[in-house]
Amino acid sequence: MTMTSEDLDRREKTLVALIREAGALAQRAFAIEGGFEMKGPQDFLTVTDAAVETLVRERLKRLFPEDGFLGEESGGTPGEAVWVVDPIDGTANFARRIPHYCVSIAFVGGNEMLLGAIYDPVHDELYFARAGRGAFRNGMEIRVAPTAAAGSACVELGWSTRISNGVYLDVLSKILGTGANVRRAATGALGLAYVADGRSDAYAELHMHPWDCLAGLLLVREAGGVVCDFLGRDGLESGGAVLAAAPGVADLMIAASGIERA
Ligand code: IPD
Repeated sequence: MTMTSEDLDRREKTLVALIREAGALAQRAFAIEGGFEMKGPQDFLTVTDAAVETLVRERLKRLFPEDGFLGEESGGTPGEAVWVVDPIDGTANFARRIPHYCVSIAFVGGNEMLLGAIYDPVHDELYFARAGRGAFRNGMEIRVAPTAAAGSACVELGWSTRISNGVYLDVLSKILGTGANVRRAATGALGLAYVADGRSDAYAELHMHPWDCLAGLLLVREAGGVVCDFLGRDGLESGGAVLAAAPGVADLMIAASGIERA
């Protein structure tokens, strides 16, 4: 399927409205103590994850039946044109009632990141990017930070049980050795959006799923940052390593993590 500019315009309009609706649903549920289950060690699930994904999947299926769908909770098959959806990124925060989470939706065509949106309903912050057209927070253009020295850099190193402690600690130690401050706020999508917005200087994680990172990678690239080639390395099928950085700290993050730039 060849995607015209008008095709993308329609999808952009839908995405921006739908992600706000999805975030509002999540935030209403957040206000009510809902409990959680464990999908596995350190892998949280709330009923809200499924409710939000169902809303997004059903709406997209009705409006764009020709598009594929890949969601964190219901799966799917990556196709030529596919929506990639994380209904709640930062589920561990959400489940423990920490108000730091988001909805993340990307649209990929021909293995290229075309649209990306991340919505933080707690602060009503909507991040949006379209390939070649810049990155925005609530309609205002955003850029990565001008940080150039490790001594003033604050970066994030994402963690999951998919990577061994030894490997994680080695990268953490190398980053700390440069003099940069390392934090972890437990929502990779929002961590990437914060790099695009200049609030953080870099985000790296040794393995992420596509629904956690694609919208954020597009945001960082469009905001002038350095990113890895996630899709070129089979990220849609298997996930992979993620790096996104302000240009002034990219080299130190690449050296510490071993993740290459695109
Ligand atoms: C997780 C978060 C976390 C990241 C993990 C993800 P979830 O996604 O983004 O920050 O480090 O790799 O799996 O489970 O909250 O959607």
